[in-house]
Amino acid sequence: MGRVIRILGAEPLPADLRRLIEEAGLSIEAAPGAPEASASARATFVRDLVHELSTPVTPLAGYLRILQSEKLGPLSAQQKKVLESMVGSVQRLSRIIENLSDFANLQTSAATLRLEPVDPDAIVEEVLGDMRRAIRDGQVHVTVTKAGGGALVADGKKLKQAIGNIVGNAVKFSPHGGEILVDVVREPDVLRIAVYDQGPGVVPGEQDGIFEPFHHAATRGGDDARLPGSGLGLPVARRIAEAHGGRAWVESPPRAQPGTVSHLFSGAKFVIEIPAPGGSAA
Ligand SMILES: Nc1ncnc2c1ncn2[C@@H]1O[C@H](COP(=O)(O)OP(=O)(O)O)[C@@H](O)[C@H]1O
Ligand SMILES: [Mg+2]
Repeated sequence: MGRVIRILGAEPLPADLRRLIEEAGLSIEAAPGAPEASASARATFVRDLVHELSTPVTPLAGYLRILQSEKLGPLSAQQKKVLESMVGSVQRLSRIIENLSDFANLQTSAATLRLEPVDPDAIVEEVLGDMRRAIRDGQVHVTVTKAGGGALVADGKKLKQAIGNIVGNAVKFSPHGGEILVDVVREPDVLRIAVYDQGPGVVPGEQDGIFEPFHHAATRGGDDARLPGSGLGLPVARRIAEAHGGRAWVESPPRAQPGTVSHLFSGAKFVIEIPAPGGSAA
């Protein structure tokens, strides 16, 4: 403990980040007379922070698993319950750290992309597979319309992450029994993935802000406890789209309803578009 993180620049630190730093037992000190932090200085800072946060979290997760295995002695039902919620909290912390890490890495340049031929329909399937549990628990129903056609050149892992962040939000903000549509469309020069939901939507005044780090819109459906998040999902998704030369945005309510399904999508429509030259599905 007692490690000091120096903050470059005069910008106030986002509240969530400040809390993370303090929870990690680090203290914050503004560098006197520091110049405006450049993007790369900020990225370096976040990378250091990610390292500092991961170092204690990794053994913590390991020790909790050992306790859970009862190799060190039997546990009462109550102790098991306590351990389970500790494991849940550590997993949540790990996810925050992962998003922070991606956020830092994506801030610098597009040079980090690993381009390869990928099948967008398969990526969407993988995302939904990983989210099976949340989808089931939220009692939401997901429809996918596939693009078909061949592979396109992209960073498959990053694209999966971007789509995952957006679909994860749709699941998280959907009412029980809500419908979600993941519409994958291949046009002559772009791949477009649009995710429609029936949640509370995003008011016009918040539609830019939610793509900024650590921003949560004021209007949120359901109770907050059901909606944990780091506030980095959308900024990371947008950066991934932009690193591919594409973009990401929200329309809420959707400007037009999809023609493929009969439900009315009254909530948000999030779109990721990346260039896919010469690859029409036709
Ligand atoms: N599908 C959605 N419906 C309504 N609001 C959304 C949706 N997706 C994102 N938002 C708003 O955007 C904010 C930022 O989203 P995100 O960057 O993924 O962070 P997080 O999910 O951690 O809150 C959310 O807190 C929420 O206010
Ligand atoms: Mg999110």
